[in-house]
Amino acid sequence: HRHLLGIEHLRPEEIVTLLDLAEDYVALNRAPDKHKDALAGLTQINMFFENSTRTQASFELAGKRLGADVMNMAMQASSIAKGETLIDTAMTLNAMHPDLLVVRHPHSGAVDLLAQKVNCAVLNAGDGRHEHPTQALLDALTIRRAKGRLHRLSIAICGDIAHSRVARSNIILLGKMENRIRLIGPPTLMPSGISEFGVEIYDDMAEGLKDVDVVMMLRLQKERMDGGFIPSEREYYHRFGLDTDKLSHAKPDAIVMHPGPMNRGVEIDGTLADDINRSVIQEQVEMGVAVRMAAMDLLARNLAAVRGVA
Ligand code: CP
Repeated sequence: HRHLLGIEHLRPEEIVTLLDLAEDYVALNRAPDKHKDALAGLTQINMFFENSTRTQASFELAGKRLGADVMNMAMQASSIAKGETLIDTAMTLNAMHPDLLVVRHPHSGAVDLLAQKVNCAVLNAGDGRHEHPTQALLDALTIRRAKGRLHRLSIAICGDIAHSRVARSNIILLGKMENRIRLIGPPTLMPSGISEFGVEIYDDMAEGLKDVDVVMMLRLQKERMDGGFIPSEREYYHRFGLDTDKLSHAKPDAIVMHPGPMNRGVEIDGTLADDINRSVIQEQVEMGVAVRMAAMDLLARNLAAVRGVA
């Protein structure tokens, strides 16, 4: 592949190849010297048009550990504020010969559009409610390490499915790997047509969590609810917030995941989120750096092959 725009473009064996390479980077990241020259001489530009802590920091660290020249564009301070379009901005940066562009944008499809205009590799760091492919890959690596496999698991994705690119990328990835997926949340936060993805839908946590191996919680994405229904946080926590009582319906060794940023006391009990016997939230963050190193390493190899032929 030239770009990493979405999980929808990846075959199961490509997902496994990427996760296997990411395992090598987990080991490298835990070593005293965290450097390898996979991206030496290459230029990586990070363009985040939406707030980020985990994705932005881990892409930056990933690029630096692999030897790239990494530039973080401060998009709020850019000429976008003077009316320059996304495409003109991308074309301007493209003229400076970057090799990797990492892009987060509030509009679904914006990163795909940008990828058509530049001649470097583009990585989607989250576009609207469409896809967040590196998040699904880091979640997959976390699950594979905790459960010893990434197939034939029962996985619950809970909360605001409708506005979540994390849910969408995870549904696609975990479906490709032949897992049983349950979506749990209020009907108002369930996207229409989602049952076409072969998922089971519940609006009751006790029923939906019964005997699952993995519980993946999601944040209420209020910034994407544009005037629509916003549930009261107290009521939402009572019905859909994960606490030890609701978790008791899952398998005794079920793991608890959350992509972050989390709202403690809204979608998850803070004590449970911090319980290292159940929660793998910090492992997810660790896997994020390794998965992004693997993704950029593989794209750089393809880029070298394409440019070598040209
Ligand atoms: N999970 C995730 O994408 O977090 P950030 O928005 O902090 O990058």
